[in-house]
Amino acid sequence: MKQPVTLAIVGAGRRGEAYAAYAIEHPDLAKVVAVAEPREFQRQQMARAHALPARNVFASWEELAQAPRLADAVLVCTMDPLHMAPVLALAPKGYAILLEKPLSTNLAECERICACVKEHGNLFALCYVLLYTAFTKRLKAMLDAGVIGDLVSVQHLEPVGWWHQAHSFVRGNWRNEAESSFMLLSKSCHDMDWLRHIMGRPCRSVASFGSLRHFRPSERPPGAADRCLDCGVEAQCPYSAKRFYLDQFGRDATVDYCVAVITDDRTPAGVARALREGPYGRCVYASDNDVVDHQVVALDFADGATAAYTMTAFTPTLHRQTRLFGARGYIETDSVKIKHFDFVTEKETVVDTGVGEGTATAAAGHGGGDYGLMQAFVEAVATGDPRKVWSGPDEALTSHRLVFAAERARRENRVVALSEFTAPGGLP
Ligand SMILES: NC(=O)c1ccc[n+]([C@@H]2O[C@H](COP(=O)([O-])OP(=O)(O)OC[C@H]3O[C@@H](n4cnc5c(N)ncnc54)[C@H](O)[C@@H]3O)[C@@H](O)[C@H]2O)c1
Repeated sequence: MKQPVTLAIVGAGRRGEAYAAYAIEHPDLAKVVAVAEPREFQRQQMARAHALPARNVFASWEELAQAPRLADAVLVCTMDPLHMAPVLALAPKGYAILLEKPLSTNLAECERICACVKEHGNLFALCYVLLYTAFTKRLKAMLDAGVIGDLVSVQHLEPVGWWHQAHSFVRGNWRNEAESSFMLLSKSCHDMDWLRHIMGRPCRSVASFGSLRHFRPSERPPGAADRCLDCGVEAQCPYSAKRFYLDQFGRDATVDYCVAVITDDRTPAGVARALREGPYGRCVYASDNDVVDHQVVALDFADGATAAYTMTAFTPTLHRQTRLFGARGYIETDSVKIKHFDFVTEKETVVDTGVGEGTATAAAGHGGGDYGLMQAFVEAVATGDPRKVWSGPDEALTSHRLVFAAERARRENRVVALSEFTAPGGLP
């Protein structure tokens, strides 16, 4: 019988836990054999869930890197600025590497990571989970089969959602560029990569606009307090932390997922304490956030095709919405259903790809993308065939160049040619 692929988890936070769940669901295919995590609660939780021997429980990636290789693969799930160091230390040991996006927070480090894994011949996948959903696979197959003919342009909306923006990008881990990274990198690198994948041709130049328009002190309503629990106008505020975390805790799976980020004490009293003392109870107009809350990117591809991308905080909870304009037909999607209108027959057909974007299990997370990624990665490691993953170092670097080019375009208020980011290999 084939042995399961063995995994070491670096960073047992939300993402490390989500990927490790794959091994619990498929013990025949994958097994978590080690963890490296400085936070006691998360480290012990992972150790218990996977019955890890004490010798394989480490307090940091640095400790894990001191040990001889003890798994087939390592899953690097630390925060954005802490991606390069563990990869550079663990790659020479011969681990296959699954790395959380983004590659890193500056382009030089992204290039170093990709060069390192290529030099050491590590099987490598970046966690571009959107590529691995049943929806993307089906859409890409339709486009490759030519159902809408030449793909001339695309309109893609990333509806971040009002509460998600407040949780992650105003109060939370990705609110401040110096502590994590800019919004287009931390959130939208998925979408730049998805557009790269869907368009299937090199991007030539980009323009971009966007700003932090709403979540700033000038927008603070009269009478608002610095914390929602002390606030007299909280009941009228769409971003009330009290309403989101405290009132809905235990009644909504998404809220419970977010609560696990804000406190280890998952009781009403624990949540209230986190809101009184921690960053997630702050008024959204009195935080230390500086990342944009809306941004557009216009992309010009090498053959003259175009794409228009919008990221905005100010939406309900929706999946990504995309319209694809082809010479023979039109596709409209909500990342679950694909509606195709054919210009010859004038008929519309609808393909329902099934799963929506949930967060609770590896199978449901990111529309099944978390599961699809783990399935592809584990299979690639088991067979030694890197073609089973579609987010290897070359694809990852191409889309990161796109992200850095678009952000440069926004900051410098000009059209940026991708050739400004050309690597020795040519156009990204
Ligand atoms: N692919 C996706 O769709 C997706 C979604 C959300 C987040 N992410 C990315 O995943 C990464 C992790 O995000 P998260 O929400 O799980 O964060 P998290 O804070 O929940 O987890 C990160 C963990 O790394 C641990 N850590 C810190 N220093 C360490 C060290 N020296 N050695 C080992 N572990 C260490 C932290 O204690 C923490 O538990 C980020 O880069 C984030 O941008 C990706």
